[in-house]
Amino acid sequence: MRRKIVAGNWKMNLDVNEAETLFKGICSIASAGNKYQKTLVFPPNIYIHSLLKENNGAIEIGAQNFHFETKGAFTGEVSARQLKALGCSWVLVGHSERRVLFNEGAAILSKKMDAALESNLQIIYCCGESLREREEGNHFDKVRDQIAILKSLTHESMQNISIAYEPIWAIGTGRTASPAQAAEMHDFIRAELEAIFGYTIAESTSLLYGGSCSEENAKELFSCKNIDGGLIGGASLKVDSFGAIISAIE
Ligand code: PGA
Repeated sequence: MRRKIVAGNWKMNLDVNEAETLFKGICSIASAGNKYQKTLVFPPNIYIHSLLKENNGAIEIGAQNFHFETKGAFTGEVSARQLKALGCSWVLVGHSERRVLFNEGAAILSKKMDAALESNLQIIYCCGESLREREEGNHFDKVRDQIAILKSLTHESMQNISIAYEPIWAIGTGRTASPAQAAEMHDFIRAELEAIFGYTIAESTSLLYGGSCSEENAKELFSCKNIDGGLIGGASLKVDSFGAIISAIE
């Protein structure tokens, strides 16, 4: 059975007091969860250590970014191995902001994926097309290309991968993909996974939707057959809205 996941991507937001207050609030509303239902938070890396100490076990904490090397002269970077040793259990790979603003292409993303797997971290691998690609009808090709990076992974590694479909035009814009648009792409991604890895892996991989997911639209999106949760940006920065989205998956 695949897992239902609601993940908050805080991006470069919140000062330390705000981060701690928000985290405490989320801890108080997130149910302990179980093997099949997870609440994740991806704070800025500088807060991970203190939030892990405050964690009541209801939430798993991940890193938004890391370097693919394990150690060495990489001023300003942290490695997957360091994050794992800290108690972090997840990472994001391939978020469109990393792809576009920090020039992370397939070669770098592959190395990041390998480094994370090597350190036994779970990965949310993000994919999604630009507005132009959608308007030109190239959105399926784009996502197929982005998913192709997974081809080198073993079936065992795939058990640590979840995928977030995040159309770039929907991220932070208030313009969500309609449930029909999201469902269509999620069906496509599941079929791609089946073509690469076979039915069992395809069926057990969690597929999350991201892009202006909110308390208003979460229930409808999550009710689609192949949408197993969400990667939430803006709406994860307030306890009330994030809590409502968590409830929408239950
Ligand atoms: P958004 O961001 O919910 O603010 O659109 C989603 C994301 O970038 O993961």
